[in-house]
Amino acid sequence: MVALHTARLVLRRWRRSDREPFAHLNADPEVMEHFPSTLNREQSDAFVETIETEFEQRGHGVWAVEVQGGKDFIGYVGLHYHDFPAHFTPAVEVGWRLDRNHWGRGYATEGARAAIADGFTRVGLDELVSFTVPANVRSTRVMDKVGMTHDPGDDFDHPRLPEGDRLRRHVLYRLRRTNWRP
Ligand SMILES: CC(C)(COP(=O)(O)OP(=O)(O)OC[C@H]1O[C@@H](n2cnc3c(N)ncnc32)[C@H](O)[C@@H]1OP(=O)(O)O)[C@@H](O)C(=O)NCCC(=O)NCCS
Repeated sequence: MVALHTARLVLRRWRRSDREPFAHLNADPEVMEHFPSTLNREQSDAFVETIETEFEQRGHGVWAVEVQGGKDFIGYVGLHYHDFPAHFTPAVEVGWRLDRNHWGRGYATEGARAAIADGFTRVGLDELVSFTVPANVRSTRVMDKVGMTHDPGDDFDHPRLPEGDRLRRHVLYRLRRTNWRP
């Protein structure tokens, strides 16, 4: 579980030095457009602690993403366990959040393919999900490109958001190991 290598990226465990650039991207309103709010430094650091705990306890988490021969931290891609009340939980999500300067180069898709492969092989999961608000087309494109499928009957209201909230409705994408094409 040291790191995953792709053609252009390294997905690795977090370093102390990732916290400052991670806080920077979590404070960017454009990166956080489809989330309830941006995060301050304290919230961003607490998120990193949660990630590290997940790696220790479950053997998976969201990886810090580094560009080979380039930036040593551009965001995260990886797996995250959810057990909030919903028809598809408990479930492991494949997710991604990258610094805006590095969007549109296929990095999220490339990293997600590696994280999915790791989830289905080393971790031994049977299914992965991914979810977001319908307006987050950048993210649903990544879900499509990695071979996840969307059944509108799976869409759900996020229980942690109040009724009427603009972000409450979510689309759910799934990928079963039996349908996975590495
Ligand atoms: C979602 C995110 C990780 C995508 O990262 P990325 O490295 O740019 O993704 P990729 O380059 O692999 O793919 C993005 C796709 O979205 C498409 N896209 C980009 N902007 C778009 C837009 N405004 N409308 C529609 N499609 C768009 C790209 O063309 C590309 O698809 P293509 O390969 O078919 O052309 C990045 O935008 C991000 O960090 N967003 C903020 C955090 C976030 O919302 N995370 C997801 C939460 S569920």
